[in-house]
Amino acid sequence: MSFKNKIVIVTGASSGIGASAAIMFSKEGAHVVMVGRNETKLSAVAAKCSSPLVIRADVANDDDARRIINETINKFGQIDVLVNNAGMSIKNDGILGNDMMTAYDAIVNVNLRAIVHLTVLAAPYLVKTKGNIVNISSVAGIMAPFSPGMLNYCVSKAGLNHFTVCAAVELSPHGVRVNTISPGPVRTDILETVKSPLTWDSFLPLTLLNRISEPEEVADLILYIASDRAKSITGSNYVTDNGMLIKRT
Ligand SMILES: NC(=O)c1ccc[n+]([C@@H]2O[C@H](COP(=O)([O-])OP(=O)(O)OC[C@H]3O[C@@H](n4cnc5c(N)ncnc54)[C@H](O)[C@@H]3O)[C@@H](O)[C@H]2O)c1
Repeated sequence: MSFKNKIVIVTGASSGIGASAAIMFSKEGAHVVMVGRNETKLSAVAAKCSSPLVIRADVANDDDARRIINETINKFGQIDVLVNNAGMSIKNDGILGNDMMTAYDAIVNVNLRAIVHLTVLAAPYLVKTKGNIVNISSVAGIMAPFSPGMLNYCVSKAGLNHFTVCAAVELSPHGVRVNTISPGPVRTDILETVKSPLTWDSFLPLTLLNRISEPEEVADLILYIASDRAKSITGSNYVTDNGMLIKRT
């Protein structure tokens, strides 16, 4: 799967799935644009990529989003792949709590609105290269919540799934593909970041295969969907969840 001389933007590239994807794209010859907020973590990942463009930015900030696309175009003149991977959740007490709307706004801003915005900004350039977009959703966008306080995260990812379908319809006449990948549990920093009381091992019995994925497994799928080998695939949602969705209790 060669990405030689392709320009690939990966958001949330400082850790987990995004870091793995950035490293793999770079190994396959891409010029990777690594977007993230944590400078120390970004530098550590950048050291494993060959001359990446590192952009410190908050994808939910409109000026930062414009800067991501402008800096990419200024340096490379084109965009071939946009991987909308940055995502998060915030602990909250749900509908009957008093922090629901604050959490809703913050989560939807990052997990959905920022992706819509980056798509709008990148689309004219993707049309020129007949490029594609890979959005990282979650099984949480398909299944009922499996722990309290997940409502906003689930809704943001469900919205992202349908945005992918709509964007694929709108951009397909221009030769641009748009797809989603929905991972189940993947061993990354996300539990720590969202201050979740859950451990990765607590997810084991929720999967048919009794295992948690590693970030590289999702990155593999990202590269496949972004490659020319997947030229017939658009508007699809690829689940990689160790059988979590079809597990009966
Ligand atoms: N790990 C899992 O079990 C799992 C399961 C399903 C889906 N996902 C999704 O995978 C994606 C990657 O998550 P991960 O598991 O690698 O977690 P992670 O916490 O290791 O990585 C998330 C990355 O997104 C970045 N990010 C978050 N908000 C941002 C913002 N506003 N601007 C810029 N960067 C921002 C973080 O800094 C981090 O680099 C997310 O969209 C997440 O929802 C993860």
